Amino acid sequence: MHNDTLGQKIADIHAQIKTHVGNVGRIGIALYNADSDTLSTFVHSSDGQSPLEHYQVRLTEVPSLQQLHNDHRSRIIDDLEALAGSPSTHTRRILAAGYRSSYTSPLYAHGQLLGFLFFDSRQPGYFRNSVTLQLDTYAELISALISYDLSTTRALRSAVALTRELGRHRDEETAGHVNRVAHYTRSIGLALVGSDEDVEFLFQFAGLHDIGKIAIPDHILLKAGKLTAEEYAIAQLHVGKGSEMIEVMMREFGLANERYTQMLRDVICCHHERWDGGGYPRGLAGEAIPLAGRIVAVADVFDALTNPRPYKRAWTLDEGLAYLREHSGSQFDPRCVAVAEQHFDDWRAIHAHFHSPGEDAGFAA
Ligand code: C2E
Ligand code: SIN
Ligand code: SIN
Ligand code: FE
Ligand code: FE
Repeated sequence: MHNDTLGQKIADIHAQIKTHVGNVGRIGIALYNADSDTLSTFVHSSDGQSPLEHYQVRLTEVPSLQQLHNDHRSRIIDDLEALAGSPSTHTRRILAAGYRSSYTSPLYAHGQLLGFLFFDSRQPGYFRNSVTLQLDTYAELISALISYDLSTTRALRSAVALTRELGRHRDEETAGHVNRVAHYTRSIGLALVGSDEDVEFLFQFAGLHDIGKIAIPDHILLKAGKLTAEEYAIAQLHVGKGSEMIEVMMREFGLANERYTQMLRDVICCHHERWDGGGYPRGLAGEAIPLAGRIVAVADVFDALTNPRPYKRAWTLDEGLAYLREHSGSQFDPRCVAVAEQHFDDWRAIHAHFHSPGEDAGFAA
């Protein structure tokens, strides 16, 4: 049961709502990320085709939802058609899918905005008081489920962050790098990974790919120049060290059997594999490399190139993109590179958003 996806749990709750409450055709949940102020579709249960997936928007660009959060209140729309004047993309798609009324609530965990919950009905004016009172109880339950689902991975990520803090200072482990790699990864994941729920966990795990560097000596990682063959062999051990560390942490957190642990393992063990089989540690090739590893490889190298390292200057974003193109089909999965190209405007925005001036000091040579 605890191995059910959140999507499956929400589908169960939706079935109960249809039995006990009535005419609710769709439940949708969007998750809020405070670092980037973005709202992303997360899980849903819909009768028929879902009108809204793989969708992401800045919360500030949706003033109506921002307002609900500011006021901590829910909103009933009795007639979505009446809104047709200035509808959000979201509302237009809901309308096009045949829904006529909606009930929307902000979700909170520990006082922080977790996201928004949308109930939609094909019946205009469906969300009367008697209905919303019942739905509020389900909203509490859904909020608790999401919060629980995210808390396990959050605990894991804080443990890693703490380990990093306690370790020696590492230029390449900046929050900037972690956030950028996570967002580039999400951008590719939205195009190539099945469900929004999987994309969310991939997003959360991507930043952990290099945790094994904690076990690699400073004189190697911080060397202000090219590594010798012996030094490079030691640097490469960060993959295996990371895999060992994460197994221990997952055991300690009792997460070993959670559904998402395989994705985390894949991110760590496979982010230096190459599409042509020339990578490490296992020399896997093509689709034998887990998709999560192929995606993070592109995100990680792009970010390593376009930011300063102790051993190199930052390349421009265009040089970074040119590198991805040149190595598409050899170093990288061509599908991942194609998505990076298509969404390169987003990548520019990610680079700009998470670039802190202090990071420029990383170039020591
Ligand atoms: P990193 O600095 O995070 O780099 C990650 C990956 O980005 C590298 O994996 C490589 O695939 C790519 N990359 C980074 N800089 C360049 C570059 O200037 N040119 C090209 N073509 N690719 C680049 P890789 O090579 O397996 O290295 C793993 C880690 O080992 C690096 O992580 C870094 O921490 C360390 N490392 C590798 N080479 C050097 C070096 O010459 N000097 C130092 N001090 N560290 C190095
Ligand atoms: C909205 O986001 O404006 C409402 C659409 C919905 O209820 O899902
Ligand atoms: C790093 O953490 O990637 C080095 C500095 C930077 O990324 O901007
Ligand atoms: Fe690495
Ligand atoms: Fe990295």
